[in-house]
Amino acid sequence: MKTRNEGLMSARPQSLTFGEKVIVIGAITRDVILRHGKTTHCDLGGMLYNAITLAVLSPNTLVIPISNVGYDAFDEVISLLENYRNVELSGLRRVQQKNIKCTLLLSGEYGIQWDEGEVVPITYSQVKRFIEGSFVLVTFPTGFDLRLNTLRRITEMAKEVYLDYHILTKGRDELGVRYLKRRRNWQEWVKNADFVQFNRFEAGYVSGHLLPSIDDIKLFGKSILRWRVRGVVVTCGKDGSFFTHGNTRHPKCLNVLSEPVKKVLNTIGCGCVYAAGFVAEYLRSHDIETSLRFASRAAALRCTVPNLQALSRALRPLTDNVKIS
Ligand SMILES: Nc1ncnc2c1ncn2[C@@H]1O[C@H](COP(=O)(O)OP(=O)(O)OP(=O)(O)O)[C@@H](O)[C@H]1O
Ligand SMILES: [Mg+2]
Repeated sequence: MKTRNEGLMSARPQSLTFGEKVIVIGAITRDVILRHGKTTHCDLGGMLYNAITLAVLSPNTLVIPISNVGYDAFDEVISLLENYRNVELSGLRRVQQKNIKCTLLLSGEYGIQWDEGEVVPITYSQVKRFIEGSFVLVTFPTGFDLRLNTLRRITEMAKEVYLDYHILTKGRDELGVRYLKRRRNWQEWVKNADFVQFNRFEAGYVSGHLLPSIDDIKLFGKSILRWRVRGVVVTCGKDGSFFTHGNTRHPKCLNVLSEPVKKVLNTIGCGCVYAAGFVAEYLRSHDIETSLRFASRAAALRCTVPNLQALSRALRPLTDNVKIS
């Protein structure tokens, strides 16, 4: 395969203009699932789910993925993203390290996850030149994607921030094995966002209720409607999602039903697609309820295809009414 250098530009013609700018920050992973010793999934993942979803669902927005990509995955990532006219590629940096590989070994309902390879954290200097006037979507597919101080600096400058808490619920031992870790300073991470997303398990672990009821989810949402946070999303897989907003005294909670899916092929990245779907619609309508329903439709479509390569095809029904300028 042809080797490319750093300092990439986008494949898009320079004459194109875009209404909004969204920076997508987080690691790009290689995800492997082993079931009964057999590989059932092996694909690029992590932040790419967010970036591709935004590129497809928000064609009039300039999407700027920022990531340090391992030398062995870089060309593949570029080949995938250069198909989108609204993706700016120059925020992607090839690093000397091997790309992180996240393996999930499943046996029945139980799983053990381990990682191979290091993640080079994204620094503020990588983000700085894009930040002015940008909406920022931050995600943590590895938990080492960026440091807290970098997040704080980004938040100071960004227009609005959507944060997917994701694997910040987990630590990693010296063999790369993931274990549950409740960060004592978890609030320091979430206070830097306008919108924060957890899945049900993550919300449960952070709040101390392992299997949170709907009331627990509402109370949890309410407890973080402070600082900069205006809305808390808790996604519950096929059971839909909850959005708590308003102020701590009088919070409101919306229950967003999931869309029915006839045949679920793969749910990896559903939360990432949900987050990006929300941002895509929010930038258009600034209407929270419409954005949540749109996010839920996008996430359901993700379940209908087996892999990342098929994601843009799956999302196409949602772009029928979007006028491309
Ligand atoms: N089986 C399903 N059928 C329909 N919609 C689904 C299904 N699974 C997930 N979704 C949609 O995707 C959203 C996010 O799912 P989930 O809670 O599993 O995210 P997640 O665990 O953060 O995923 P990931 O971290 O892999 O991206 C749900 O709120 C729902 O709208
Ligand atoms: Mg998630």
